[in-house]
Amino acid sequence: MKNLVIAAMLVAFATSAALAADTVVLEAKNGNVTFNHKAHGEALKDCKICHGDATPGKIELDKDKAHALCKDCHTKGGQGPTKCGDCHKK
Ligand code: HEC
Ligand code: HEC
Ligand code: HEC
Repeated sequence: MKNLVIAAMLVAFATSAALAADTVVLEAKNGNVTFNHKAHGEALKDCKICHGDATPGKIELDKDKAHALCKDCHTKGGQGPTKCGDCHKK
């Protein structure tokens, strides 16, 4: 399991070395979620949608907050994954 995770991380690094800081891996027991921060920022053109009015910074996510933020927008907007396995990858 540990080796699999490391292998996956190495692949992720190899394919996106220049973009490493642009994607964030949100850890979850049922499979980590890779969040493309840069793509979302560019597609949505508005930091406030997720960060509110304060200066954008780290967001503390848990299951409920993440599902409310991420899944709801994907569902309402008709874009982005809404199925468990499309976000959570083992
Ligand atoms: C749009 C992407 C997305 C979809 C779709 C999604 N999740 Fe999640 N889920 C997340 C994120 C992001 C987290 C939070 C990770 C963190 O705590 O930083 C999370 C957290 C969780 C956790 C908590 C894991 C832990 O380690 O505490 C569980 C359990 C979970 N999701 C189950 C599900 C199930 C079941 C479904 C389908 C019904 C689902 N998720 C669909 C993105 C998603
Ligand atoms: C779709 C939602 C979303 C949008 C849009 C978004 N962000 Fe974020 N941002 C996040 C999440 C989620 C995190 C927390 C990731 C983590 O847990 O490390 C974050 C983290 C950050 C951080 C902290 C990084 C760190 O590791 O400390 C900064 C700075 C930031 N965002 C800036 C921005 C700016 C500037 C924009 C607009 C161009 C933006 N964000 C748009 C969701 C978003
Ligand atoms: C305000 C709307 C909005 C929010 C909030 C949002 N997304 Fe998305 N997401 C989108 C849209 C629109 C797309 C499809 C356009 C694209 O691919 O850039 C997308 C695509 C995705 C994809 C598939 C394409 C890719 O970039 O890898 C993933 C995975 C994803 N989102 C995860 C997340 C997670 C995890 C969160 C919460 C931390 C989140 N999204 C929050 C709108 C949103």
